Amino acid sequence: NPLVFSGVQPTGNLHLGNYLGAIRKFVALQENNDCIYCVVDLHSITAQLVHEDLPGQIRSIAAAFIASGIDPEKHIVFNQSAVPQHAELAWIFNCVARIGWMNRMTQFKDKAGKDRENASLGLLAYPSLMAADILVYRATHVPVGDDQKQHLELTRDIAQKFNIDFMEQIRRHGYGVDIIVGEEPIHAYFPPVEPLIGGPAPRVMSLRDGTKKMSKSDPSDLSRINLMDDADTISKKIRKAKTDPDALPSEVDGLAGRPEAENLVGIYAALSDTSKEKVLAEFGGQQFSVFKPALADLAVSVLSPITGEMRHLMDDPTHIDTILRKGGERARARAEETMREVREIIGFLQ
Ligand code: TYM
Repeated sequence: NPLVFSGVQPTGNLHLGNYLGAIRKFVALQENNDCIYCVVDLHSITAQLVHEDLPGQIRSIAAAFIASGIDPEKHIVFNQSAVPQHAELAWIFNCVARIGWMNRMTQFKDKAGKDRENASLGLLAYPSLMAADILVYRATHVPVGDDQKQHLELTRDIAQKFNIDFMEQIRRHGYGVDIIVGEEPIHAYFPPVEPLIGGPAPRVMSLRDGTKKMSKSDPSDLSRINLMDDADTISKKIRKAKTDPDALPSEVDGLAGRPEAENLVGIYAALSDTSKEKVLAEFGGQQFSVFKPALADLAVSVLSPITGEMRHLMDDPTHIDTILRKGGERARARAEETMREVREIIGFLQ
């Protein structure tokens, strides 16, 4: 059975990239799937150890999930540290994964910067905790933005190495199923994880520079639309967004070499659940002076209700805390089922 898992870090403000690349997809997927959505607080201490208001940050991500339409009764919403099995499996994966694999991760290289020797060991091991998040539930589908693709490939590598290294034990204890990975038939305990990255805005770019990813760490607030921005701020940021002087093309091919135009068209398409083709069929030939106000209206109409509901939820932290606590209990029970088997496969006494 398909099982969806994804996580969002409680660091800084959520922005339109997080919403379109991840959270909006979480909402769509819950219609037909069993879903688990996690606020990954353990990950948030890898780059920066001490946070001014970590509880508030954790609650605001949970509030964003719920305000966007995730149903915490039907699905599971919780924070990672409430389920110690994530960290336990991550330790095991630290022993499965190779240092060379971790050193190749572009996110590690970016975040560690030049002084790599001085990065936390947790930052290097980050992807192994991410693999554990997913595989402790043996989840099969992971909706994320394009920037997480490499981490999900690593998740597949870790699962595969575990499956192969422990193949005999997995069989002996009667666990796992026969699957084909690549060309090889193997007896697998952990399933191969499918990333769900598609859609018109898998990588939302900065509003100031169409070649840079929209990110929480960009010093310019004009570069991103935050989920908590009010309507005027959203309109202002879209009005000031960098563009080229030409009219919009009528075909997607015409966006080649025009990163800012492509980004805004992708955002419009994602916010209206359509394709870039359809957006250009409507706006092809129009100037940005026409397209930008239409985009601003659309962005405000989608985001304002979410912002309003987030604020409302944040007014009552005990409500959010109850949701997270209940979600944590349900997640723990499911994670423990996997860990009992994993401990047995490895040979730990329990
Ligand atoms: P995080 O917290 O940086 O981002 C949360 C989600 O937002 C997506 N995203 C974007 N999508 C499109 N355009 C952008 N500019 C943009 N910026 C961010 C991210 O791809 C992500 O889906 N490592 C993860 C958190 C994580 C996780 C997991 C995800 C931990 N464990 C297990 C999936 C499964 C991260 O740092 O996301």
